[in-house]
Amino acid sequence: MQKIKIKNRLEIEKMKHSGQAAAEVLQSIADAIQPGVSTYELEMISRKAIAELNATSSFLNYVIPDHPPYPATICVSVNNIVIHGIPDQSEVLQEGDIVGVDTAVHINGYHGDNAFTFPVGQVAPNARKLLEVTKESLYAAISEAKPGNRMGDVSFQLQSVAESAGFSVLQNFSGHGIGRSLHEEPQVPTNGTPGRGTRLRAGMVLAIEAMVNEGHSSVDEMDDGWGIETSDGSLSALFEHTVAILSDGPEILTGSPIWENL
Ligand code: MF3
Ligand code: CO
Repeated sequence: MQKIKIKNRLEIEKMKHSGQAAAEVLQSIADAIQPGVSTYELEMISRKAIAELNATSSFLNYVIPDHPPYPATICVSVNNIVIHGIPDQSEVLQEGDIVGVDTAVHINGYHGDNAFTFPVGQVAPNARKLLEVTKESLYAAISEAKPGNRMGDVSFQLQSVAESAGFSVLQNFSGHGIGRSLHEEPQVPTNGTPGRGTRLRAGMVLAIEAMVNEGHSSVDEMDDGWGIETSDGSLSALFEHTVAILSDGPEILTGSPIWENL
């Protein structure tokens, strides 16, 4: 197993820059979300925003075992799609949809990674509740990301906030450490037991991902080799921040005004 890379103050400053760049890309996409827009148009906005920042996409051509290279700079996951949805010209957003957008960039040697699930126009009360609870679970988890705690304290919040609302968390996908690589040790599971798991230390930087299904936790891989959808067709939401663990507690590196509305 690869070792956890502890970042010093200078490295965390650089990662703050990467995190803010990722947040800006997400914000540009947020501004464009409305009924009638295709997920491919969101991809085009992302490409332009990344180029303007003089950054590169962390996702484009990314390779994980047994998958084709990832073909886009965003993952865009509509309604029952959980994660890794590939942008598509024929996929047009409609009033009442929820759309998860995940984007990460590489700049000055470091990655920043973030995701947000947006309502498209007015959404049904159950959809809004899913968005609010998933976002709340992420913030509850972040508040546990401090030195001396263990990973299980973070993961337990992701799980318990979602399950208390009658929702379920993904079993086989996790958040991750982040730094010079998009995916570093340790994994950040979406379920866990308080007091168990990796001891958290100042200088760790984590991409914490809250992934919540409205219905059952089971998911299937789509024919494109990337997309993951709920098996029961229920809605799914995703929220992700890159978070530095500092001696006095967590610092969110990917904050932006989009997080204040919802
Ligand atoms: N935020 C997700 C992750 O860190 C998105 C990965 S998309 C990929 O796993 F293209 F990079 F695989
Ligand atoms: Co991630």
